[in-house]
Amino acid sequence: MVKDFLAITDLTRKEIFEIFDLAKDLKVRQKRGQQHHLLSGKTLAMIFQKPSARTRISFEVGMYQLGGHALYLAPADIGLGQRESVADVARVVARYCDGIMARVFGHQIVVDLAKYATVPVINGLSDLVHPCQVMADLFTVLEHRGHLEHLTVTWIGDGNNVANSWINIASRIPMKLNLAVPEGYNPDPQILQAARQTKLSEINVLYNPLEAARGADVLYTDVWASMGQEKETAIREKAFKDFQLNQKLVDVAAPNCLVMHCLPAHRGSEITDEVIDGPHSIVFDEAENRMHVQKAIMVKLMRK
Ligand code: CP
Ligand code: NVA
Repeated sequence: MVKDFLAITDLTRKEIFEIFDLAKDLKVRQKRGQQHHLLSGKTLAMIFQKPSARTRISFEVGMYQLGGHALYLAPADIGLGQRESVADVARVVARYCDGIMARVFGHQIVVDLAKYATVPVINGLSDLVHPCQVMADLFTVLEHRGHLEHLTVTWIGDGNNVANSWINIASRIPMKLNLAVPEGYNPDPQILQAARQTKLSEINVLYNPLEAARGADVLYTDVWASMGQEKETAIREKAFKDFQLNQKLVDVAAPNCLVMHCLPAHRGSEITDEVIDGPHSIVFDEAENRMHVQKAIMVKLMRK
């Protein structure tokens, strides 16, 4: 396994399933109240340039359950790249801590942290990708379905960081991935090209949500304006108005389809209450599994 986890493409297919196996085991142990102090005495620095609920809580509680400690560093604390260069922050933090999780704007920041830190760096979301999220997502699908064979996964909305991570995972696990995005809001072209070159999955970028959702096993959506895009909210509300995950899409998907959202959700915008609270929704299992999967990722990277 490589030193850092910056994108799903840092993992092989085999490593992805090893992480899922360990996550399953850790989840069972935690539910049974069995001690699993696999990172006893280790400390994780959590550097945030953006807000978070799930990422912060799941890493911090996860580290505690593993017998370690996590340190929350808010945007104003470190001043990454402003008070001090990214390289110097990486060098210093690595002298105190055994791992770094960072949530950043530009993806290059996690790349630079990884370059200059002598300890593992985990991407807790960048503008480009959100790898921990999609690892937890796929683990959740596996739990509900018991397998990941011949899945049709439909993404509805922005071609954003979470969508890009779904494309990345489609270059490791075969699936049919339909992305329904408004024109001009496509996923990252390089990530798309690289995934298509592996010829492992069928990846379609469509501009019609109903067509994309037909027969889908998974219907997935995310906010229309991601963190850092708040100023574009009004423009995006117009562009995305026909890209809502609502009952019409559930009705054309597979009868047992799973509805997913990485959260936080803007109910009434990208998803309706009826659907997010409906019988197909697994959004809170998905949120919980962030912790179990990230614990497995930390054990794999930090228990050396
Ligand atoms: N899904 C997710 O990453 O949530 P937070 O932004 O609350 O961490
Ligand atoms: N695309 C969203 C995901 C939040 C978890 C964002 O970047 O804000």
